[in-house]
Amino acid sequence: MNFRETDLQHLWHPYTDIDKFERMNFPVIQSAKGVRLRDVTGREYLDGISSWWCVNLGHSHPHIVNSVVQQSVRLQHSITGGMSHTGVIKLSEMLAGVAPGSLNRIYYASDGASGVEAALRIAIQYWWNLGQAEKKNIISLSGAYHGDTLGTVGLGFLPRFHKPVEHVVNRSVQAPAPHCFHCPFEKNCSLQCFSGMEEILRERALTTAAVIIEPVCQGAAGIRIYPPEYVTRLRELCSELDVLLILDEIAVGFGRTGAMFASDLAGIQPDIMVVGKSLTGGYLPMSAVVATSEVFDSFRSSDSKDRTFYHGHTFSGNPLAAAAAIAALEVFNSEDVLEQSRLPAALLQNAFSLFAGIPGVHRSTALGCMSSLEISEEAGGSNTATRMAVMALKMGLIIRPLGPVIYLWPPLVTGKSDMEEMLSIFGECLKSSLRQTRSDNAQRKLLGSHKPSEFARQEHRES
Ligand SMILES: Cc1ncc(COP(=O)(O)O)c(C=O)c1O
Repeated sequence: MNFRETDLQHLWHPYTDIDKFERMNFPVIQSAKGVRLRDVTGREYLDGISSWWCVNLGHSHPHIVNSVVQQSVRLQHSITGGMSHTGVIKLSEMLAGVAPGSLNRIYYASDGASGVEAALRIAIQYWWNLGQAEKKNIISLSGAYHGDTLGTVGLGFLPRFHKPVEHVVNRSVQAPAPHCFHCPFEKNCSLQCFSGMEEILRERALTTAAVIIEPVCQGAAGIRIYPPEYVTRLRELCSELDVLLILDEIAVGFGRTGAMFASDLAGIQPDIMVVGKSLTGGYLPMSAVVATSEVFDSFRSSDSKDRTFYHGHTFSGNPLAAAAAIAALEVFNSEDVLEQSRLPAALLQNAFSLFAGIPGVHRSTALGCMSSLEISEEAGGSNTATRMAVMALKMGLIIRPLGPVIYLWPPLVTGKSDMEEMLSIFGECLKSSLRQTRSDNAQRKLLGSHKPSEFARQEHRES
């Protein structure tokens, strides 16, 4: 089969510009092991983005694969509405064991966005259950990303992605987000950025059901890492004003920040936590909303009021996904993945502090196995970041730009030599893309042209 041609005839790729894609020599992946993906021609690629931030434990881990294979001959699907199955019971006990504080009631959804949707409905119905239906609004952070369903798009709204549906989206109230790359107070940070959230929350607490944030790092906004103390302050304020706190740990949960959950870094417990992505090691789609008993108990019906949560997914708690999640948690513990992640985290920290000194790099940051840098506007911003990602792919490293930000988000189990190889390719592509942008700019100046560079398109064509 000619995979490329057949793909171009039938597939509709997410977050992919159709014309650029059609010109591109894109990889068609056939297998993967550890931190490497292999395409149909046998070419290998280092997975610098953990396959959209979820394959934290590396690809083809034998324990997770075996667990899914064994489960697949036992039970493939059985519903969790009005009945249960052994896998989802075992997983729930394990999740309650690792979840922050007393979070112990687990509701399953299918992916990150559907998990967030469920969390929002739980928060809104919680207040309705208590007879306080006026507490129905949600506060989020500007630039937040919580998924691509219409409900979750309203929480963040990234104009670049969501403009075409702006007119139908119900926008939440958004507080100004911490943005350390462009902070006016960075030299003497005492979380002045929190005042925007505080003002909005104090003003609206009586009508607010919950605040939802991506703790410690706003991912899709551009890997904006911010201090855990912001989350601690928010917890205190939500408790004071009687507003639920929802932490969306879909991207940062399960060790990404160097702690099991980002809330551990902040030393707090949310009322509701949403996890997904690496819950199953990234092997099968599943998300979970983890709530306190207090939230759960409010859903008990009484003679006068039916408080049942009428919200569900066909594949809620699917046995195959549950088997993957159980095995992923077992690997996490038995292989001490948090400890393993210290090595790639230290290498990232060191490299990104050096990258910060390269002319054209506006700022760089790293926390745990998340790291990012921003290309300054004068150095080409998002054009240079795109150019860099195209170059890296040619050199066997998968990275993706987020506007002018380019990041490395490797599996937590990346070993020394693989991490060094990723960083070496990353550094080489960074310098070389900056150099090429400079030379493009110089040439344009010489020719007196003010037209924006077309290099990204050319490079897609060439690759
Ligand atoms: C913080 C966060 N929440 C929610 C989502 C949505 O998850 P999914 O793509 O599985 O729907 C993402 C996806 O990147 C995310 O980063």
